[in-house]
Amino acid sequence: MLRIENLTKSFGPNVAVDAANVAVDKPAMIGIIGRSGAGKSTLLRMLNCLTDATSGRIVFEGQQISALKGADKRRWQSECAMIFQQFNLVPRLDVVSNVLHGTLNKRSTLATMFNLFPQEDIHRAIDILDRLGIAEHGPKRAEALSGGQQQRVAIARALMQDPKIILADEPIASLDPMNAQLVMQSLRAIHEEDGRMVVANLHTLDTARRYCDRVIGMRDGRIVFDGTPEQLTTGVARDIYGADDSFSEAATSTEIQTLDRPKTAQVVA
Ligand SMILES: Nc1ncnc2c1ncn2[C@@H]1O[C@H](COP(=O)(O)OP(=O)(O)OP(=O)(O)O)[C@@H](O)[C@H]1O
Ligand SMILES: [Mg+2]
Repeated sequence: MLRIENLTKSFGPNVAVDAANVAVDKPAMIGIIGRSGAGKSTLLRMLNCLTDATSGRIVFEGQQISALKGADKRRWQSECAMIFQQFNLVPRLDVVSNVLHGTLNKRSTLATMFNLFPQEDIHRAIDILDRLGIAEHGPKRAEALSGGQQQRVAIARALMQDPKIILADEPIASLDPMNAQLVMQSLRAIHEEDGRMVVANLHTLDTARRYCDRVIGMRDGRIVFDGTPEQLTTGVARDIYGADDSFSEAATSTEIQTLDRPKTAQVVA
């Protein structure tokens, strides 16, 4: 279904993603973990064509993604919707309109300028919000919602695109534990009920273990682990994070003490 072959991205002398290989044969819920700077966001951004690869290729259902241009590239970008840590909603716009923006790439500029949305799209947006448990907030401005609710609006906007893949870059990094759980449960449900693939960069190990079928561990741009949560032992996790003996399963990637730094140093996010 999805093949990533020798995918590499360099920024000058710095290799952000180094010859990554991943094969996915059916829709899965995949978590990507690793220390800050390991290359997780760069990998997601290449999947969504927000960043061009330096070399290697991405093939989805027989189509070479990394070679797409113009309208084909935009079509692919709507098939793999992206969710960000900071939600990226229009704060002063109402929730329903924010969700409807998920259909923008299918609408004319004129319709967009006047915020004209077909009735059926409006109904669909409300149904999606209802599914995510936030339909009652539809008329409110996005900025009036809590972080967790805003992230679910962002998920609703992504679903509006009817994507095959949802790419989530640290979707719960700004949320409290309760809201983080609601957002992860929503992503899990979307995967299980709709059969969509979800690929999420996660900064805590326990979240990856709990919600994902498969975990990919990155270190210094390379994929150093690819397996099930069961195979992700504490020893393997310590290796992915390059952490020392004080490594705790509950630690986040920004808290972990690493081998190549003094024990008292904080790893900067
Ligand atoms: N636009 C850019 N220009 C130059 N270097 C970049 C750029 N984007 C990323 N990098 C570098 O590539 C490497 C990987 O960055 P990336 O953002 O993919 O890491 P990450 O695993 O997502 O980290 P974090 O957990 O902090 O989000 C880092 O060394 C980073 O400094
Ligand atoms: Mg990142």
